[in-house]
Amino acid sequence: MPHPLEQLRDEALRQIESATDEQALETTRVKYLGRSGSISSWGEKMKALAKEEKPVVGKLLNEVRNAVTAAIESRNAQFHLQKESGALAKIDISLPGTPHEIGSLHPLHQMHERGIQIFRRMGFALAEGPDVETEWYCFDALNTPPDHPARNEQDTFYLPDGRLLRTHTSTVQIRAMESAPPPIRVIASGAAYRRDELDATHSPQFHQIEGLYVDENVSVADLKGELEFFMRELFGADSEIQFRPHFFPFTEPSLEVYVRSKALKGGEQWIEVAGCGMVHPAVFEAVNKARGDNAYDPEKWSGYAFGLGMDRLAMILFEIPDIRLFSQNDLRFLKQFA
Ligand code: PHE
Repeated sequence: MPHPLEQLRDEALRQIESATDEQALETTRVKYLGRSGSISSWGEKMKALAKEEKPVVGKLLNEVRNAVTAAIESRNAQFHLQKESGALAKIDISLPGTPHEIGSLHPLHQMHERGIQIFRRMGFALAEGPDVETEWYCFDALNTPPDHPARNEQDTFYLPDGRLLRTHTSTVQIRAMESAPPPIRVIASGAAYRRDELDATHSPQFHQIEGLYVDENVSVADLKGELEFFMRELFGADSEIQFRPHFFPFTEPSLEVYVRSKALKGGEQWIEVAGCGMVHPAVFEAVNKARGDNAYDPEKWSGYAFGLGMDRLAMILFEIPDIRLFSQNDLRFLKQFA
């Protein structure tokens, strides 16, 4: 006659085999091997056995416990396997994959990159400044008096703490000169902000590439030659530029730059693309004051600066009729530049 422990074992193995899911298996495990399970309780019963029986039954108890534990583990493994292959069966690996949508650079960004690339070949380094600025960098250091109309609250976005959104990238001229002595040859590319009504040609946020070159004997001829080279690289070898007198507080003389090229609007029209001029001595003096030295001695150094309107350039290069298209996120528009 089999020992009751062997009967328990056979009964447990049958139940394990017939368990249909993990939960039924767990119930079986608790029933036989749990703290007060019927196999476990033999540990207590052993105490009452005769001395010579103890080792025999003890050995049997171990064997039974091991056999039942192993059976439970292997049944559990079966359930796991079934689950996995069930999940895999739902996947049709012969189907084509889901392609990721690949984006592209915004046309304005492309325009900046083109511009920067040309200026880098001409030996300009990249400089940077923040969009949120102080009045010092935006106006005072740029020789713009307190009563200048550009400083008006109607034209400039002021923050409650007195700082402002830069109205042009010329702020970076000052930052660049403060941080390094001449000669200096930098461009800065980024956004500028003015309280303009949004229409087809105006936007409260627009974009510029600023340029600054300070060295000995820099002249208007250098300025004209380099801007002409830039426009020819951008719009083709037949591009011509024209300077028209203008006024900026931070340059003297100050000029507006117009470009004409066969590629642009039939080649007839002069199109305004930049403001520029020779750095005003008062700007050098302001920088010296901030630096606490005379590094930018206006008797020794001269320089030119320019600010290119990148939205305007992109609009004429890509034939975009309305500046609002840049900020409307319309994929039908943006995909044309992918
Ligand atoms: N900051 C001027 C503007 O935004 C452009 C400019 C830059 C003019 C540098 C002269 C020199 O209109």
